[in-house]
Amino acid sequence: VRTRDELRDALTDWALGAPAPTDRRAVVMTMGALHDGHLALVRRAREEAGPGGQVVVTIFVNPLQFGQGEDLDAYPRDLDADLALLAGVGADVVFAPTPDVVYTDGDPVVRVSAGRIGEVLEGAFRPGHLDGVLTVVLKLIQLTRPDVALFGQKDAQQLLAVRRMTRDLDLPVQVVGVPTVRDDDGMALSSRNAYLSDGERRAALALSRALQTGSAAAASGDGVSAVLASASGILNEASDVVVDYLALVDPDTVDEVPTGHTGPALLLVAARVGTTRLIDNQAVDVV
Ligand code: PAJ
Repeated sequence: VRTRDELRDALTDWALGAPAPTDRRAVVMTMGALHDGHLALVRRAREEAGPGGQVVVTIFVNPLQFGQGEDLDAYPRDLDADLALLAGVGADVVFAPTPDVVYTDGDPVVRVSAGRIGEVLEGAFRPGHLDGVLTVVLKLIQLTRPDVALFGQKDAQQLLAVRRMTRDLDLPVQVVGVPTVRDDDGMALSSRNAYLSDGERRAALALSRALQTGSAAAASGDGVSAVLASASGILNEASDVVVDYLALVDPDTVDEVPTGHTGPALLLVAARVGTTRLIDNQAVDVV
């Protein structure tokens, strides 16, 4: 469905039917160019929605979350391929609006702020990005009225920002995080991987290898400094990889953990390989 009216008609009106208590509407928001990572979210949405529930997938390349000089125009778009993939994993409704449908009155005057979460790490390198994400996520929640919304752990800071928004603004929606889907060699799936040449693809493996190495250092009791040193060692060896940040943070705040920290933490990396910017992360336990 492409318009607000078509979407309204397609949404199950639970008040008219008699849904089982477990039947719910689950939404997966995407920018298209779908891969197995997105499909894992849709499969999980099918489980969360229940057999009589409804799975809604949105496909919208949100201009508001792209900065000057970023890849808004180049971002891969292939709606027919996306629809074919979604038909195989139990999506009931696909909402694929154009920008004028979502932003009826042009650029929104009132927007959501991700606050402190939007200013560090991804926010420091992409100012305004997470505000743009939260603004469209809130709009898509209002338009699709889900009981549950699913987001990938691949974009850990985005997932945290969405969780905080639902708590801080009392949105009546459950947020479910879904583990990162990786290629056999460990590389996190991403629509932007399509930009990589074969050589860049090999170089980009340094990101997931750095996270694995850091995670192993954490598990063997080497401490925070050694986790970061071992991970950055791998990144520095890869000549075509330019690191934006490597950080070990508190999973609930994305504040960097102190040197003496033990317990759960999130190891985050962002780097550019050629002109492609990639992010990845891994949960670690510093013993
Ligand atoms: P997009 O990058 O298309 O990702 C859509 C969803 O798929 C996000 O929740 C993302 O975390 C998840 N995802 C991407 N790659 C994944 C992988 N390898 N494993 C598991 N999940 C993965 O993220 C966005 O779009 C946008 O910011 C959006 C939330 C749609 C707002 O515009």
